[in-house]
Amino acid sequence: LFAAVELAPRDPILGLTEQFNADTRSNKVNLGVGVYYNDEGKIPLLGAVRKAELARIEAAAARGYLPIEGIVAYNQLVQKLLLGADSPLIAEGRALTAQSLGGTGALKVGADFLKRLLPGAKVAISNPSWENHRALFEGAGFEVVNYPYYDAATHGVDFDGMLAALRSYPANTVVVLHACCHNPTGVDLTVDQWHQVVAAVKETGLVPFLDIAYQGFGDGIDADAAAVRLFADANLTFLISSSFSKSFSLYGERVGALTLVAANREESARVLSQLKRVIRTNYSNPPTHGGTVVAHVLGQPELRAEWETELAGMRDRIRDMRKALVQKLKDRGVERNFDFVLKQRGMFSYSGLTADQVDRLREEHAVYAIGTGRICVAALNSRNIDAVADGIAAVLK
Ligand code: LMR
Repeated sequence: LFAAVELAPRDPILGLTEQFNADTRSNKVNLGVGVYYNDEGKIPLLGAVRKAELARIEAAAARGYLPIEGIVAYNQLVQKLLLGADSPLIAEGRALTAQSLGGTGALKVGADFLKRLLPGAKVAISNPSWENHRALFEGAGFEVVNYPYYDAATHGVDFDGMLAALRSYPANTVVVLHACCHNPTGVDLTVDQWHQVVAAVKETGLVPFLDIAYQGFGDGIDADAAAVRLFADANLTFLISSSFSKSFSLYGERVGALTLVAANREESARVLSQLKRVIRTNYSNPPTHGGTVVAHVLGQPELRAEWETELAGMRDRIRDMRKALVQKLKDRGVERNFDFVLKQRGMFSYSGLTADQVDRLREEHAVYAIGTGRICVAALNSRNIDAVADGIAAVLK
């Protein structure tokens, strides 16, 4: 049975972490995977999360099965975070949410559901996009194409190219859009550009699938949801995958959500009933812990305020690391202008390093980055940044 099974290539992101873990050099730094580390180089356990966990242990709650779509209170709180507490879509019963296994789980359930509805449709993702987008949608049976996005020459967006591509697609093409903190480039659209994208999506009859895994890492919870809310205001039907892995530092708990916006309450009920079939035949129902913790924090004003402060702390520290990296590269006489790093948002920087330079960085300096040149700025800290700057300066010579 297995004799002819070929060895698969390593995952471009998580495979790099495997390689990093096996590296015995004590000075190694992992700027590969999108994980926030604090200045001590540790993944933080947020104070608000700790309190919610203690409350949960204290309550000694039984661990029965959750409903197929997850915790009702969690799903409602997710909708408010994405669409706004006063969203008319929520009041009208047009939004439906299923708790998912991280953002990836939300994308997968959404992809499987879309495949049933639109078996012949193509999926368009940005060029470049998160490495797993293509694999995930191809795995769900779709043909995946790229729309222009990043312009290496300007370190900005090829917006004309993007818009032209969106307009050229047949109706019902699924278009995956990074709602904030674009992964891997860190380059986002402006609100004005989002208006134009919404108009193009509407005119062309595309199916928007908004991926928001870094809400709060750009400017804040509401500001980072601006694109989601523009789509909501445009009276479109669309899908949103969201994640609390990063914003709650709950990576391993796999806490995410798939939210769909339907045309009306009755349609929403039908859609949810079908979504539940996709979930039931996949993993049955989601786990209890992470969703309970997040719902507890979001549902208690004091804990929610504490969480937002902690999230702002992570956001600010990443900004400080951007500034420090740019300065330290200048201090080392690097001629290339890295000021674009200051404008990028979220955890990542598309550094412009080539695949060869990334290889040398890893082999000669024990600094791990993704082959595309993506580095996770959120993994820099006051102890490792000099070594990282030394390494980058050396490979650029
Ligand atoms: C990343 O892009 O590094 C994160 O989203 C983690 C992952 O699952 O790839």
